[in-house]
Amino acid sequence: MLSKEKMEIIKSTAPALEAHGKEITTVFYKRLFETHPELLNIFNQTNQKQGRQQLALANAVYAAAIHIENLSEIMPVVRQISEKHRSLGIKPEQYPIVGENLLIAIKEVLGDAATPEIMDAWTEAYGVLADAFINTEEEMYKETENKPGGWRFFKDFTLVDKIPENRLVTSFYLKPADEAPLPDYKPGQYITVHVPIPGQKYAHKRQYSLSKNYDGESYRISVKREIITDPAGIVSNYLHDSLNVGDKIQISAPAGEFFYQSKADTSVAFLAGGIGITPLFSMVQTAVKENKKKIHFIQSVSTQDLLTFSDALKELANDHSQLYYHELITETNGFVSKEFLEKHIDSSTDVYLCGPVPFMMAMVKYLLAMGLKENQVFYEFFGPSMTIDTE
Ligand code: HEM
Repeated sequence: MLSKEKMEIIKSTAPALEAHGKEITTVFYKRLFETHPELLNIFNQTNQKQGRQQLALANAVYAAAIHIENLSEIMPVVRQISEKHRSLGIKPEQYPIVGENLLIAIKEVLGDAATPEIMDAWTEAYGVLADAFINTEEEMYKETENKPGGWRFFKDFTLVDKIPENRLVTSFYLKPADEAPLPDYKPGQYITVHVPIPGQKYAHKRQYSLSKNYDGESYRISVKREIITDPAGIVSNYLHDSLNVGDKIQISAPAGEFFYQSKADTSVAFLAGGIGITPLFSMVQTAVKENKKKIHFIQSVSTQDLLTFSDALKELANDHSQLYYHELITETNGFVSKEFLEKHIDSSTDVYLCGPVPFMMAMVKYLLAMGLKENQVFYEFFGPSMTIDTE
């Protein structure tokens, strides 16, 4: 527990941290990879290039600073980050490495303003925060390990089927290589794949949502080939071009706090933007079984040929009269509008959404303006978490 004086120091320096957050974390990552290049095997270099990871870490450290007196306030955020860490196989012994480099970066950016007292308080505060993560992650590791067929860190799976869904998206069906039972998961959760790409010095790790609900048979991920991003998706292209049926791939156990959790007597809507459909498809398969209330599934894609799981959704709607499936093609129908949402969603509906950042920002704004409460709107960004500014 931090002393009262140190807590005061942390709280009074939090604004400086907010102001310089991105600068500090940029210096931090540069140092981290210079001193510990092996960590390049864990961090997503594309997120680094886009600055998204720097922003995510800065937000987390700032949130911790303002809640240092009562960390339980930020435990939901800690849990969400810990899910990601657990899925990446982060270990307790890596925390001091991150801590040391973060503290040096704070000192470097704040200069003389970072007095020994301030640095001392931050060193202790980092320790408190790191312990919260380490303990939460150990609980999560134990939970996944103790399931029948469960494991810690990464394990070999065999690709048993590879099915193209459209011109950019392909589904990969994976079974444990050791033929152990397949641990269950919540609809909406993701796995991390670990791929050493031939010719590349460092391995790559990426998260992909499980795109069907649990059936005890196989995990399925549905991966969009990223061709127009900068740089083009190293992992997605590798999976499309080089991973073939019979090959092995290492994955971590399912993780994530974005999952279907509505009560059976609540109307539900799913809003999928592009490849954001993957966790939502797994959720709607569960929702139709558990929920007899109205369920709307809205899929928005830029062009007709990028619709994903369209036939499966039509079939699901045929079999379950409470499900209404809508396809919106931006090229012909424009973006999903507030008027469209108002036609199908009322203020008693739980809404789950996933898709590109601008899509999610627009949808959350509309939904809150329509009178939905924040706890009725569930969403997840692919990549580092960001906050949605709804002002
Ligand atoms: C992701 C914070 C310690 C490795 C993240 C994210 C946050 C964060 C906010 C983004 C979460 C998301 O995507 O939803 C923190 C804090 C730490 C800490 C506050 C210390 C108290 C560590 C340690 C490691 C680590 C010790 C291991 C070296 C990672 C990696 C990611 C991540 C690899 C995924 C980033 C990517 O590649 O896109 N962390 N973290 N973190 N963290 Fe940490």
